[in-house]
Amino acid sequence: MDSQTSKSYMAPLKNKLEEGTFIVGSIGAGYVGAITSIILAARQPNLKIIVCDVMQEQINKWNEGRFPFYEPDLEKYYDIAVNVNKNITFTVDVGNCIDQSDALFICVNTPPKVDSDAVLGKEADMTYFDAAIRNISNYGNPEKHKILIEKSTVPVGTYKRINSLLGEKIQNPEACFTIVNMPEFLAEGLAVQRLLNPDRIVIGTTEDLNGQEAFEVIKGLYTNTETLFLKLRTPSSELAKLFINGMLAQRVTSMNSMTYLCEKFGGSIQEVQRMTGSDPRIGPLWLQASPGFGGSCFEKDILSLIYIFESEGQQAQALYWKALLNMNDAQKHRILDMIISEFPEPESTTLTLFGFAFKKNTSDTRLTAIAYIANGLIHKGYHVKIHDPKVTERSFHFEMEVQGFNIVEKTNYEFCGSDYRKAVSGSSAIIIGTEWDEYNELNYNELITLMDGDKKNLYDFRSYVDVQQIQQAGFSKVFKLGN
Ligand SMILES: NC(=O)c1ccc[n+]([C@@H]2O[C@H](COP(=O)([O-])OP(=O)(O)OC[C@H]3O[C@@H](n4cnc5c(N)ncnc54)[C@H](O)[C@@H]3O)[C@@H](O)[C@H]2O)c1
Repeated sequence: MDSQTSKSYMAPLKNKLEEGTFIVGSIGAGYVGAITSIILAARQPNLKIIVCDVMQEQINKWNEGRFPFYEPDLEKYYDIAVNVNKNITFTVDVGNCIDQSDALFICVNTPPKVDSDAVLGKEADMTYFDAAIRNISNYGNPEKHKILIEKSTVPVGTYKRINSLLGEKIQNPEACFTIVNMPEFLAEGLAVQRLLNPDRIVIGTTEDLNGQEAFEVIKGLYTNTETLFLKLRTPSSELAKLFINGMLAQRVTSMNSMTYLCEKFGGSIQEVQRMTGSDPRIGPLWLQASPGFGGSCFEKDILSLIYIFESEGQQAQALYWKALLNMNDAQKHRILDMIISEFPEPESTTLTLFGFAFKKNTSDTRLTAIAYIANGLIHKGYHVKIHDPKVTERSFHFEMEVQGFNIVEKTNYEFCGSDYRKAVSGSSAIIIGTEWDEYNELNYNELITLMDGDKKNLYDFRSYVDVQQIQQAGFSKVFKLGN
């Protein structure tokens, strides 16, 4: 049974909201913690926001306005929060942030466990999350009741885990802290717009009076945001967050599974997409074909969902979601094989990868599908040049390592950053892996003159270029995924 109480601890917090003295803390200054805090501070001058992180370098960057990652429009709202409202601070003093705050967003990373012995899935690694909770437990004080908000994506039942971790140090955690779940739906690359105009704000709470009033207090943090506020039971919102990422990954993967058949039988994935998306039972979003989904969330959250099913002995459901990950891998293999089969002499062939970020408008490379393609080509012996307008060489190397691709000893690749001329010179093929707008707007008539080889191909694995226009530049072949 969930702990239920007929008592509410929210009265002092409601007063602080009314007086304009409410302080929101964010534990974690990464994508979720920093972006959500900056937008909240810019939107709500009545709140004070403290963002803390254990990484000094991360905090230095925020303090100096050197953003640790690229996110469109973030600069504008950072400027409003920091220089106009002056209501946000960034600090490594995690204890002080906890102590000061009335509500704490917990935004730390919850990656898949590396040493998981699960067969199909992977348990979420709660090391960072648990460390944050243990730190919070040092500040339990019934006179300063706080709302703890799970914003990290967490396994179902985490609210109970928090309670028992707090209980290791505090006799009556309920009197000091109210725990709620508030899943984050920001989509990198569109995060600012999604936070300014959210489809909905979901708050998972207990069903008692305190849970109801905590819901109202959290609503009170968003007085300048018009949206739908959904109140769910905590386990429902914890579960639904994992499920939504699974559903989104499933839509993309379903389209990707059709790309081969479209190519084989003369169809067009765009036409299949249009017809499918016009069915109101399905809808048009998230049906774009790709080299496979990436990003820090989808695979991780599906692995976590699989792990939960496996732990419950529900093999059929676990296998169902596992098939989705296998399908995603199959798309990457298919694309790699397609390139390799067209260029039989790797040692004398240069190939250019356009894009390394996992999608456009972000510098985030976490679990990008292109890392697999880059690794396969490098290990096959091609000379591989990598271009991306926003990704740094450091992130490229870091991501290759994280995904287990050992290219340290290899000398047959070059990271070219945003230098187009360097990236395409001497190359036999341009391979678009990330759908940056600029790849569709380039002067291919000029770029092709820098290329070399018996044939000069262009592969569009995002299926978004204007083939006719690019063909005019004189490419031997312009391949558009699913066409
Ligand atoms: N990135 C997204 O698009 C997105 C979207 C929705 C949900 N989420 C979820 O939000 C969570 C955070 O994701 P992210 O992309 O922001 O991760 P991130 O790695 O960018 O940021 C996490 C930050 O937390 C800090 N941290 C770790 N332990 C800490 C501790 N004990 N005290 C203080 N700081 C600590 C890290 O140093 C890091 O800077 C994850 O659970 C993720 O699944 C992410």
